[in-house]
Amino acid sequence: MSDNKVNITDPVSGKSLDLPVHTGSCGDPVLDISKLHKELGYFTYDPGFSVTASCSSEITFIDGDQGILRYRGYPIEQLANHSSFIEVAYLLLYGDLPAPAEFRKFEHDITRHTMVHDKLNTFLKGFRYDSHPMAIMSGVVASLAGFYHDDFDIKDAEERDLTAKRLIAKMPTIAAAAYRHHVGWPTAYPRNSLNYTERFLDMMFSVPAEPYKINPVAARALDLLFILHADHEQNASTSTVRLVASTGANPYACISAGIAALWGPAHGGANEAVLDMLNEIGSVEHVGKFIAKAKDKNDPFRLMGFGHRVYKNFDPRAQLIRSACHDVLDDLGIKDPLLDLAMELEKIALEDDYFIERKLYPNVDFYSGIIYKALNIPTSMFTAMFAIARTSGWVAQWLEQSAQGGRIGRPRQLYTGVAERDYLPIDKR
Ligand code: CMC
Repeated sequence: MSDNKVNITDPVSGKSLDLPVHTGSCGDPVLDISKLHKELGYFTYDPGFSVTASCSSEITFIDGDQGILRYRGYPIEQLANHSSFIEVAYLLLYGDLPAPAEFRKFEHDITRHTMVHDKLNTFLKGFRYDSHPMAIMSGVVASLAGFYHDDFDIKDAEERDLTAKRLIAKMPTIAAAAYRHHVGWPTAYPRNSLNYTERFLDMMFSVPAEPYKINPVAARALDLLFILHADHEQNASTSTVRLVASTGANPYACISAGIAALWGPAHGGANEAVLDMLNEIGSVEHVGKFIAKAKDKNDPFRLMGFGHRVYKNFDPRAQLIRSACHDVLDDLGIKDPLLDLAMELEKIALEDDYFIERKLYPNVDFYSGIIYKALNIPTSMFTAMFAIARTSGWVAQWLEQSAQGGRIGRPRQLYTGVAERDYLPIDKR
């Protein structure tokens, strides 16, 4: 890490303190404030954790000003063009690209863990038919803790590895089952002869009445989206997973908490919200009205799929998805007016001072829904798709944290409530 220091002096007490500066392999240096309270009596205040590094990590690097995203050092563009989701999942978990035999073993292990205990299906069927898939997924994944708890030893690296594989393997099975529960179709079991994304499409759309033919364009498009959504350093859901994991909680409960955090429209839920927004806008003539709403401080409406806490120039994932969107629709022979609408919305927003000044650009969620729609995936499943992909990042981060050990995550606060008062019995109030 490094050895520079920043000296700060408290004007009140006159005491001064050297704060160590840590320099990572890339990115801005980080001030180590862990001794600040002990030495000077101050906490730091950073709502939304905009400038706080909560951990050190070797997994994913983002440079928001330059639009750089790398998994384990590999640029996202190279992975998107040459890799597969399963290879990326291996990379995230173990740090390097797999050799052929390692890849075969990993893919085999994932394939062998795709089934879920039949009792889990009973639990899933208890949900109302119209429950949101994310509600089902967070509930069902948390309930996996009930199946793998008593004999799980978090200190055993092999058991942690098995858990990581189980989670990556079972997530598509659970997501597809949530969808089938909604449409009233019988459970589809995973087919081991297929690869990860093909298997998911098969579990989503095959019915007992007739054979289902997987479209390779759809499978590849899905694989690309999974690669682009696989990890994104310490975002809200990953930080949630790490925080819950810091208590020593069961890993399935940790990932379930991540799913819950991802569901919000400011995070992964934005992909669903973008499609709803595009449908609500309806046609190009209404774009101006919605841009005006997004700029109006008295209107809670935001342009969904726009803006990012870290990217202030462009989101490299959005650029890749935008171009994939054209290719996928062309290859599938689909003409979707929502794509024209999205492009017009993007064009008008990017020329508008409000968006320019605030550095608001399309993010990963802006175009992904148009691809999902082209693959016949219903809007309510969009965030579940994100959850399937992000599970690889969550478990990689969980493995890293578990191996590092460390303390329970426990932020402090700036208390602004009543300082102290005496209790009054109810008849005296
Ligand atoms: N539409 C209109 N105004 C916006 C938008 C937007 N989408 N995003 C930010 N702003 C404005 C915001 O009102 C604020 O203006 P002002 O400075 O005048 O108060 C300024 O831009 C900065 O916004 P912020 O809320 O302080 O930024 P943040 O870093 O806290 O939030 C964000 C980032 C992604 C939550 C936010 O941009 C947003 O709500 N976007 C829409 C939801 C979305 O697309 N989320 C997906 C994010 S990418 C995928 C993922 O993380 O899962």
